[in-house]
Amino acid sequence: MTYRFTVNGEEVALDVPGMRRLLDALREDLGLTGTKEGCGEGECGACSVLVDGEVVDSCLVPVCQVAGAAVLTVEGLAPAGGLDRLQQAFLETGGAQCGICTPGMLIAARAFLDQGGEPIDEDIREAIAGNLCRCTGYTKIIDAIALAAQRPG
Ligand code: FES
Ligand code: FES
Repeated sequence: MTYRFTVNGEEVALDVPGMRRLLDALREDLGLTGTKEGCGEGECGACSVLVDGEVVDSCLVPVCQVAGAAVLTVEGLAPAGGLDRLQQAFLETGGAQCGICTPGMLIAARAFLDQGGEPIDEDIREAIAGNLCRCTGYTKIIDAIALAAQRPG
């Protein structure tokens, strides 16, 4: 069966088994390797993408569930040739170290900002509660999201 949806604003049509993981479809079928696999079990958030504006773990979502939906991956955050304000802020604060968690953090943070999130420590912690980072101790990530939240979108 062919599943049609959009990824980063572009229409895609995939002829794959309906239970194929969205994570695999993105990385292997569409070549969008920015989305990472950590645990593969819905625990780490490394595979986070937005589906119709909601953060989901793409390792848990089958392709059949996104038919007709709009998927946003980390590749879709930045304007052509530039950086999204979140990416810029991560760069400035050192919020990205090994980088495995970073795409998922950026996606969770994007949903937070899109929902009008403000630079409030507790709110940011809650927004990224589903995303694990083994490198930064979270402080720099939270600083980055707070910095981005203070800038015009
Ligand atoms: S790889 Fe999907 S939540 Fe960890
Ligand atoms: S930067 Fe390494 S896991 Fe977050």
